Amino acid sequence: MTTAPSSGSLPDLLRTATADLHTQAERHPFQSSLLQGRLSRHAFGAQITQMWLLHRGYEPILAAWRQSDPAAARLIADHHFRQHLYHADAIALGVDTAGALPVPSVQVYLAELRAAALNRPWFLAGVLYVLEGSTNGAKFIAKALEKAYGLTHSTGLSAQDPHGDQQRPRWLAFREALAEADLTQDQRSDVLAGANATFSVVIDMMDELAEVLDRRAAG
Ligand code: HEM
Repeated sequence: MTTAPSSGSLPDLLRTATADLHTQAERHPFQSSLLQGRLSRHAFGAQITQMWLLHRGYEPILAAWRQSDPAAARLIADHHFRQHLYHADAIALGVDTAGALPVPSVQVYLAELRAAALNRPWFLAGVLYVLEGSTNGAKFIAKALEKAYGLTHSTGLSAQDPHGDQQRPRWLAFREALAEADLTQDQRSDVLAGANATFSVVIDMMDELAEVLDRRAAG
């Protein structure tokens, strides 16, 4: 089990404890090739589809937790539910979403989420930290993809900029709500475990997508 330090603000702890994973995700070869326009639109569509499948699995679990726990309700906002944006982007990128399946790492992760929801629900707050936190860099990503692939908000980039000019205030409000949550040491560790698992699945997913592309290019 990942043990979180018992003192200090939880959002600050998460930032520090996951900094290396953030660097790995940000500098992943799949991510950097995409930003430089060295992959196809198809590859971007595949990544967006996996993010849609991840959100589609996670969001009903998050909604149920919000419904059942007032502490969760203080943390979770309507704008945290974004699977419709990923779905619209996947469609705009030409993906047949009806036949889409999660890659193995996403499948395993979604099973872990379902178990965590029953046994240690604060894990879900760590998931939300990563998925919401990732919108901070997304404006930069959207700009690069616009340039590299000629995409726009309505042709595949809506999920990259879900909050528009509300980005900063919404992120700060989330951080504040997380800092104010009155958690036990175990619950803090569960949040950190959720954050670590979510960074890891994003990294593993990119590994798997890159492998599929390499195999296609070779064959
Ligand atoms: C090219 C890719 C990426 C870039 C350029 C990038 C850039 C950034 C930037 C500029 C921030 C803002 C920090 C601040 O204002 O305080 C940020 C925060 C964050 N990003 Fe990324 N990011 C990238 C990829 C990702 C990915 C793939 C994830 C995870 C799925 C992620 C998760 C986060 C999280 C959780 C935060 C919040 C950190 C905190 O303040 O606690 N990022 N990122």
